[in-house]
Amino acid sequence: MALLTIDNLTVEFQTANGWFRAVDGVSLSVKAGEVLAIVGESGSGKSVSMLAVMGLLPASTRISADRMEFEGRDIQALAPAERRKLIGKDMAMIFQEPIASLNPCFTVGFQIEEVLRIHMGLGRKQRRARAIELLTQVGLPNPAERLNHFPHQMSGGQCQRVMIAMAIACNPRLLIADEPTTALDVTIQKQILDLLVSLQDKTGMGLIMITHDMGVVAETADRVIVQYKGRKMEEADVLSLFESPGHPYTRALLSALPENATGKRLNTVSDFMALTETTGERP
Ligand SMILES: Nc1ncnc2c1ncn2[C@@H]1O[C@H](COP(=O)(O)OP(=O)(O)OP(=O)(O)O)[C@@H](O)[C@H]1O
Ligand SMILES: [Mg+2]
Repeated sequence: MALLTIDNLTVEFQTANGWFRAVDGVSLSVKAGEVLAIVGESGSGKSVSMLAVMGLLPASTRISADRMEFEGRDIQALAPAERRKLIGKDMAMIFQEPIASLNPCFTVGFQIEEVLRIHMGLGRKQRRARAIELLTQVGLPNPAERLNHFPHQMSGGQCQRVMIAMAIACNPRLLIADEPTTALDVTIQKQILDLLVSLQDKTGMGLIMITHDMGVVAETADRVIVQYKGRKMEEADVLSLFESPGHPYTRALLSALPENATGKRLNTVSDFMALTETTGERP
């Protein structure tokens, strides 16, 4: 059974000039153990579609979908308390803007432990131990000391890793990672991607990876959705997409990125993979 199924999702925001349609009829589904990448230019509605699934858009937003189900349960029909139980536990999201997503008034330790207290009912000692374990997993040095820090005492990349720790704290069955490595330097990027993929492997969770980086797609995804101006342009398994991109926008996306990095055109997916493997570069 699919973990998440969305049919014909539309999201509209009210603006001074009327309703603006940020997501226009997107359908997707993710199974356990699968990595689905969503790519597309800035403003194409990638984040908004996932925030709609999580129920995190402002109340004035107009959201409609023919179907929005998590493990066969209609998400839209859930009572608010039920939906809150689902979110953060079974279905978690690493947000694109880590600093804005952490509460400046509380230490990172408190924020991680709150998730563990609410969703897992862990006692004080267990929470502390699990929080330290999580910060170690995401590669933050001196985790015990870190727990006492406030978000403003940390860099963007460090906050990003705290966000990741919070998202994976309750072993979600579906993890939505919205540009999870954008704020990080290359060595940490690799470490975080490896962590997400190994977690996914170990736990069999589904993973939705929103990214601009076709190197990340090549390394992690099973299937790819290409979104453009709120619409799904194309969906394919990752090898087919790299070998024969159907939509002109996908071709542009693929050809533009390697050329920028290397100055020469990569014609096949094997060229692309070879480049990624030999140089470690992400075209
Ligand atoms: N709360 C909001 N009110 C009005 N418009 C919004 C709101 N949130 C997002 N939008 C608009 O919806 C569109 C889609 O935004 P979204 O953040 O989903 O893009 P994205 O594909 O995630 O882009 P990026 O790659 O830059 O993260 C954009 O035009 C954005 O300005
Ligand atoms: Mg976004």
